[in-house]
Amino acid sequence: MKIAVLPGDGIGPEIVAQAVKVLNVLKADGMKIEMEEAPIGGAGYDMAGDPLPEATFKLSREADAVLLGAVGDWKYDSLPRDDRPERGLLRIRKGLNLFANLRPALLYPELASASTLKPEVVAGLDLMIVRELTGDIYFGQPRGITTLENGEREGINTMRYNESEIRRIGRIAFDIAMKRNKKVCSVDKANVLETTELWRQVMIELAKDYPEVELSHMYVDNAAMQLVRAPKQFDVMVTGNIFGDILSDEASMLTGSIGMLPSASLDENNKGMYEPSHGSAPDIAGKDIANPLATILSVAMMYRYTFADMATADRIENAVKKVIAQGYRTGDIWTDGTMRVSCSGMGDAVVAAL
Ligand code: IPM
Ligand code: MG
Repeated sequence: MKIAVLPGDGIGPEIVAQAVKVLNVLKADGMKIEMEEAPIGGAGYDMAGDPLPEATFKLSREADAVLLGAVGDWKYDSLPRDDRPERGLLRIRKGLNLFANLRPALLYPELASASTLKPEVVAGLDLMIVRELTGDIYFGQPRGITTLENGEREGINTMRYNESEIRRIGRIAFDIAMKRNKKVCSVDKANVLETTELWRQVMIELAKDYPEVELSHMYVDNAAMQLVRAPKQFDVMVTGNIFGDILSDEASMLTGSIGMLPSASLDENNKGMYEPSHGSAPDIAGKDIANPLATILSVAMMYRYTFADMATADRIENAVKKVIAQGYRTGDIWTDGTMRVSCSGMGDAVVAAL
């Protein structure tokens, strides 16, 4: 298995280092793993003048899977848009055709009190957000900032989805639901936006192929509300790129910390890029206090979805469960009576548990 390792910016390098420790344990146990590192985001810009250097893209395309930390730092905010770290991330997603973004929100029972919601609202939460990742207003043309005849500036972005884009992400959601509680909630804004009216129609057509799955529809504003009101009503939620971006951050907080949530971004053949759902957190970068568990759990997802090695995926997830049960906590999930550890300390604890 060849893994392209892209640490990126901010806390990216320190959290990825912990995931690499985990991979090294698997390697020592006899798994054939080859890792190669390359810069992306601001690190790519600093090294090669491009947030997605050609060599990084080539390595990622040729690898079996990609492990990514995070991209972005305030110091790049004044660069032209095409040179900014986020553009590197969007280009690798698009370039590798990683259209299916899976963002599970799973609550570890011991962390119920770390959530800002009442424990009874979130206890037992196990939700999968399936976010379309290569279309929508993120990529739609025309886009840009232009100057009108009267001299006023106008910003333009375009929300677009064609049928096949909707159908392929819908299939992923239905297939995942078949392995879970057989419920799909499709989130749209069909009362206002034609793009998502089509989204809803295609989901309804697709549902005919999955008679066992119960399909429901929800407007995105209501979904945002229901996620904090009664999140356990959801099993699989499927939505477009922008709504999924927003709702997945919201869902992450149900679990206590966004620092716990992994993600997978897959193409048609289950090749994938794996990254924590959270960002680069430049404010805490280099302090060895970030939570590496989302990145470590992303490695578990890599084994589950790309390498189809469920036993190893379970082994990594069980190690994480164990360190949580043992009381190890980084600052973001720390509560009275638990043991506060650093980012590398948490990595060491997972290695010991493995
Ligand atoms: C995410 C992030 C990215 C996105 C940014 C960094 C471009 O927020 O992965 O959710 O908007 O998709
Ligand atoms: Mg986001």
